[in-house]
Amino acid sequence: MRFRIQTLNSISPKGLDRLPKDRYEIGNEIGRPDAILVRSADMLDMQIPASVLAVGRAGAGTNNIPVSLLSQRGVPVFNAPGANANAVKELVLAGLFLGARHIGPALDFVRTLEAAGDALDEAVEAGKKRFVGHELPGRTLGVVGLGAIGVEVANAAHLLGMHVLGYDPQITVQRAWQLSSGVEQALSLEDLFARSHAVTVHVPLTQATQALVNAKRIALMPEGGTVLNFARAAIVDEAAVLAALRTGRLAAYVCDFPSAATRGAAGVIALPHLGASTSEAEENSAAMVADTLRDFLENGNIRHSVNFPEAALPRVPSTARIAIANSNVPNMVGQISTRLAEAGLNISDLLNKSKGEVAYTLIDIDGKVPAGLVERIGAIQGVLSARAVQ
Ligand SMILES: NC(=O)c1ccc[n+]([C@@H]2O[C@H](COP(=O)([O-])OP(=O)(O)OC[C@H]3O[C@@H](n4cnc5c(N)ncnc54)[C@H](O)[C@@H]3O)[C@@H](O)[C@H]2O)c1
Repeated sequence: MRFRIQTLNSISPKGLDRLPKDRYEIGNEIGRPDAILVRSADMLDMQIPASVLAVGRAGAGTNNIPVSLLSQRGVPVFNAPGANANAVKELVLAGLFLGARHIGPALDFVRTLEAAGDALDEAVEAGKKRFVGHELPGRTLGVVGLGAIGVEVANAAHLLGMHVLGYDPQITVQRAWQLSSGVEQALSLEDLFARSHAVTVHVPLTQATQALVNAKRIALMPEGGTVLNFARAAIVDEAAVLAALRTGRLAAYVCDFPSAATRGAAGVIALPHLGASTSEAEENSAAMVADTLRDFLENGNIRHSVNFPEAALPRVPSTARIAIANSNVPNMVGQISTRLAEAGLNISDLLNKSKGEVAYTLIDIDGKVPAGLVERIGAIQGVLSARAVQ
């Protein structure tokens, strides 16, 4: 079977190459697509064709996609969490060095020098005293949020010789496995701030994380500390940071979110939202989402979906598979099994997982899927989508 993929943006060839040409027809004008691949195109007002089985977002955020509408249609939305983690980690490390060695003001100073020859050398030697920095080993970095990015930052800072404290009450088992054993667990945010020369935040922006870095917590930090924000602007109370920079409580605020208030303020190093801006991050996102989309189309497996549960079963030759999305209400699996029993079919494997209001079931049966069975399952009240996976 050939799958038809509609692209709404140009998608990195590194991603499209994961979809073999003999099985996938890909283009931006494709009719009756089986799946849509998108980066930033706005799908919120789009008439999404009924043929669409899945949507893949080559990136992390999905606010350009009508996720809840697609959930009601039984259509999973895939994204690429963590595909940009290395890109952000590298910029955070750059931020640590920028802050520690006063690189921003030092560059500004060099640009002001007009002398040449010996006079230039003298001006350099006289001026450099202002930019004496510090080295990282022996200093403590506090990492708030140990997800895809936070874990990478924590591990890299530990390898640089820093003492690293981590705080994430909801750390996943997968991230805990990835975290270096050298990273110490902070008991609370207050404990982390009190013991960290530099604090970096890697949490999503939610009500709970808004102004997580605030005056009270900054006041706990050792004198001359650094705050790094490569997560979202509102996670840091800018007014509190600017006040702390004025008193010397903070020496530097390194962030990816310039604002009218911080732009040009002494001690602020603001970058123009460059965290994920590498060609590799774009390629990684495209490759990751192409892989998950392919596994879904060819095997019905679900990984990295924002609206569907993780659900994956290995394929066994001589079995056929049916994939069903349904409302997460009682007696769905019972009704589906009854349809299979009515057709005289033996279930060789079954997986049922749920996430929020959506449940997803993979059923492997011996032999082939008989004609009409998928339609009979699809007619059960509460079934959102059903298909035989070829
Ligand atoms: N600067 C950029 O260009 C850029 C690029 C990518 C991501 N980001 C930002 O970085 C954030 C983190 O990305 P990620 O891929 O690591 O996300 P992630 O979902 O993998 O990790 C987030 C972690 O934060 C933890 N967390 C949530 N609330 C917390 C709290 N109150 N205290 C401590 N931990 C908490 C979660 O348990 C999770 O482990 C994103 O939400 C995004 O806003 C910025």
